[in-house]
Amino acid sequence: MSTLEVRGVGKRFADRAVLDDVSFMLAAGEIVALVGASGSGKSTLLSLLTGAVQPDRGELRFGGAPLPSRRRPFAYMPQRDALLPWRRVVENAAIGLEVQGVPKPAARQLVRALLDPFGLSGAERLYPRQLSGGMRQRVSFLRAVVQDQPILLLDEPFGSLDAITRDELQRWLLDMWRETHWTILFITHDIREAVRLADRVLVLPSAPGPIASEVVVTRDIPRDEQFLTDTRVPPLELALRAALYADTQESRSKPIA
Ligand SMILES: Nc1ncnc2c1ncn2[C@@H]1O[C@H](COP(=O)(O)OP(=O)(O)OP(=O)(O)O)[C@@H](O)[C@H]1O
Ligand SMILES: [Mg+2]
Repeated sequence: MSTLEVRGVGKRFADRAVLDDVSFMLAAGEIVALVGASGSGKSTLLSLLTGAVQPDRGELRFGGAPLPSRRRPFAYMPQRDALLPWRRVVENAAIGLEVQGVPKPAARQLVRALLDPFGLSGAERLYPRQLSGGMRQRVSFLRAVVQDQPILLLDEPFGSLDAITRDELQRWLLDMWRETHWTILFITHDIREAVRLADRVLVLPSAPGPIASEVVVTRDIPRDEQFLTDTRVPPLELALRAALYADTQESRSKPIA
């Protein structure tokens, strides 16, 4: 059963088309990665889902019905963190829960329980200006996952993390997924990360149009340390790289409108 459906969505900003006829589905419990060239409209697509941006055309459906205009079933991590400068780490990470109506003390309690796996213990009383870029990103990521919504929308959640922290948080996410079976749609520029985390990887074309290709990763491939040496992984990474290259070459050979 599909839980989220994007059907024929199109979006223009002024005279510039960004998305055209984009359709895909997310089944409950699926992890799907969205990749594509910079500027291809990945973040715009997530903004359409959250309702921050309105589509010009197409339909968004959830659980077989049109996506409601308010109280959508998403926890969203934006590409640029939206930390409030006057709130400390714990207060910033608790915002999403507070918006959902969770009382402040309970919201902060839930956040505190996750500071350790997010490498933020000891930092709870710091303000955003006192954090490194990677720490800010983890606070923003924590703000999203603690909300426990049916669908997680993550815009480059691991982008500015060091390799070890990235690996740890990816593992944390996979462990959580095994417990919760969240449905996750995430954006990445990292081919390896896409293949490691996702059941399917969707390639958004750089010239507005339908999803250009899809790479399916079977659940038989272990996503823990064995992933690094599994012989089924390199062909998938190559297929994804080829799809991205094909898209870039195609758009470069087209005259610029
Ligand atoms: N609010 C807006 N008003 C006007 N143009 C916009 C707006 N938001 C995005 N765009 C334009 O839409 C295009 C797609 O932007 P978007 O941020 O969705 O790309 P992206 O695929 O997420 O890129 P990146 O990988 O660099 O994050 C860009 O050309 C951008 O300038
Ligand atoms: Mg983006």
